[in-house]
Amino acid sequence: MLCYKKVVMFKNAVREVRRIIYISITGETMTEKFVLAYSGGLDTSVLIKYLQEKCDAHVITVTVDVGQQEDLAGAAEKANRFGVYKHYHIDAKDEFVTDYIYQAIKANALYEGKYPISTTLSRPLIAKKMVEIAQNEGATTLVHGCTGRGNDQVRFDITLSSLAPDKKVIAPVRDWGLTRDEEIEYAKAKGIPVSTAAKMFSIDASVWGRAIECGLLEDASQEPPAEAYEWTVAPQEAPDMPEYVTIQFEKGIPVSVNGEKMKPLALIEKLNKLAGKNGVGRIDHIEDRLVGIKSREVYECPAAVVLLEAHKDLEKMVMTRHEVLFKQQVDAKWVFLAYAGLWVDPLKDDLDAFIDRSQENVTGEVRLKLYKGSLQVVGRSSPLSLYDKNLANYNIKTSFNQSYSHGFIELWGLQTRMYNALKYSAQKQTENQKT
Ligand code: ARG
Repeated sequence: MLCYKKVVMFKNAVREVRRIIYISITGETMTEKFVLAYSGGLDTSVLIKYLQEKCDAHVITVTVDVGQQEDLAGAAEKANRFGVYKHYHIDAKDEFVTDYIYQAIKANALYEGKYPISTTLSRPLIAKKMVEIAQNEGATTLVHGCTGRGNDQVRFDITLSSLAPDKKVIAPVRDWGLTRDEEIEYAKAKGIPVSTAAKMFSIDASVWGRAIECGLLEDASQEPPAEAYEWTVAPQEAPDMPEYVTIQFEKGIPVSVNGEKMKPLALIEKLNKLAGKNGVGRIDHIEDRLVGIKSREVYECPAAVVLLEAHKDLEKMVMTRHEVLFKQQVDAKWVFLAYAGLWVDPLKDDLDAFIDRSQENVTGEVRLKLYKGSLQVVGRSSPLSLYDKNLANYNIKTSFNQSYSHGFIELWGLQTRMYNALKYSAQKQTENQKT
């Protein structure tokens, strides 16, 4: 559409801003709309002003509640104070549990064997919400506040540009090389409050867990200080008596805790509290970021650790060994795709189909013992169990016919024996030649 540029002065709530407004030949104003993922923190607050001023854009902010337990009402208030065109607050906690966390449980998702991908999982959901809003608002550009060093930039860029190929995706902190000092200077100049108390850690949380980075934690040789943790008590401060918890699964999904049926979100919140107060769920490991950096990561994921342990245990009771061993490979691939920002890759959908089918029989109960930071599965049962006490016991009179075992071993070890027989005779020959 043909437009001409006109520089206008206008007042917004904060102060007078010089802004270029595009006006079409029909007289309709054409200020571009940018949708920004907004947390309420310094980085994204600076971005609001920056985009308003440098890009002459209408900034639409979005905060998505995935259970991060932050002051999201405060974020909304801030966004409006900074003169955003519109602010969206989306409570996506239930959707996060049923469409993202459930799949992670079914996939036994632990990145590098340790990390329950609590931050990772929320990114494609936030991106999806941004795209929905951008489409409704007719926005041209999607903006996130990631730097160029982490994994989140990869997740946002790929998901946003895949779901909205007609829109631009920008990450100003990375793309325009904004440094922390420049941000602080700019914030001060624009009246954006900068908290004087330097934050000890960088935190990112969802209902699936809390990630703690930076500050003292960057010295990978040192134990995280007590202040790093909020969801879990130190094991030595946990109750002196063990606590038992029984989780019931139906087709791979947790449905009740200690016999009480619970809604998906409530169930996870309950387990976060229950495991957290027993000091269960702390994780400290060296993690490989996609961009190649090794990073010391500290997490507290009480519910995730309990549910993943229980689920994996139950699978082993109801699945054939062929399923168990094959699924381990599928699970490893699944968690890598999720971590690596490829949530919307068709391979993930393909694996999801396999994983969903594999959960048909994953129904039953798992009993766990939580005690001063330790977590142990201490019992499990299922109406679909392949474990048969009568077969497994060492009593001679069971339905397992031991007389078949000899023949089975004969065939099972055939090639191994043949190989070793050849080796043996070759050795003998060399020995004979020596003597
Ligand atoms: N390393 C984790 C991931 O990439 C968590 C990152 C947490 N971010 C933070 N700002 N603390 O999923």
